[in-house]
Amino acid sequence: MTLADLPAVLEIQAQAYDPFFHESEAAFRGKLGAFPAWCWVAEEAQGKLAAYLFAQPARLGRPPCLGDGGRSSGGDADGGADTLHLHDMAVSPLARGAGLARTLATHALAAARRAELGHGRLQWASLIAVQGSVPYWARHGFVAGPVSPDLSSYGPGAAYLIRSL
Ligand SMILES: CC(C)(COP(=O)(O)OP(=O)(O)OC[C@H]1O[C@@H](n2cnc3c(N)ncnc32)[C@H](O)[C@@H]1OP(=O)(O)O)[C@@H](O)C(=O)NCCC(=O)NCCS
Repeated sequence: MTLADLPAVLEIQAQAYDPFFHESEAAFRGKLGAFPAWCWVAEEAQGKLAAYLFAQPARLGRPPCLGDGGRSSGGDADGGADTLHLHDMAVSPLARGAGLARTLATHALAAARRAELGHGRLQWASLIAVQGSVPYWARHGFVAGPVSPDLSSYGPGAAYLIRSL
């Protein structure tokens, strides 16, 4: 993902999420600026941007709050990251069911397994499932984690899920 992708990313966010979950352009810009190696987009065959994934190294049990701009989540800046947190993955409604999300998630997990951070390797992947997506993530091996972070900014029904890398 680059800054030039943000208008299309914002458009997909508007189509994919209830307004309660919408993050600002400034928040997206902050995440991309803080974690440029961990933000991806996927295009359809015609070259139209159709899906995105914001991820970031973080500490297990310390996920970012909704709307967080990037640096306040126990990420790799302080050298303690042990999980790749998949913060936000969304696919344009017309492009769903074609495997774009699977491709993005698989790519992110492979990058997490390869990553060598200053203090060691990532052990986990984590995310906060919203909008009834727990069954989707279960298909990717994610289960409820042993830790229960404060998910209040994500509203009722949010679930913290993890899997080993
Ligand atoms: C969830 C989402 C990213 C999946 O995108 P996608 O590109 O359609 O996913 P894929 O093509 O990789 O996988 C499609 C498969 O997942 C299944 N699936 C999709 N959403 C699901 C859900 N909520 N629960 C269970 N299975 C689901 C589809 O039925 C399909 O199954 P099949 O392969 O057996 O046909 C997309 O529906 C989306 O953008 N949703 C809105 C944003 C959102 O809620 N993101 C997750 C927040 S944590």
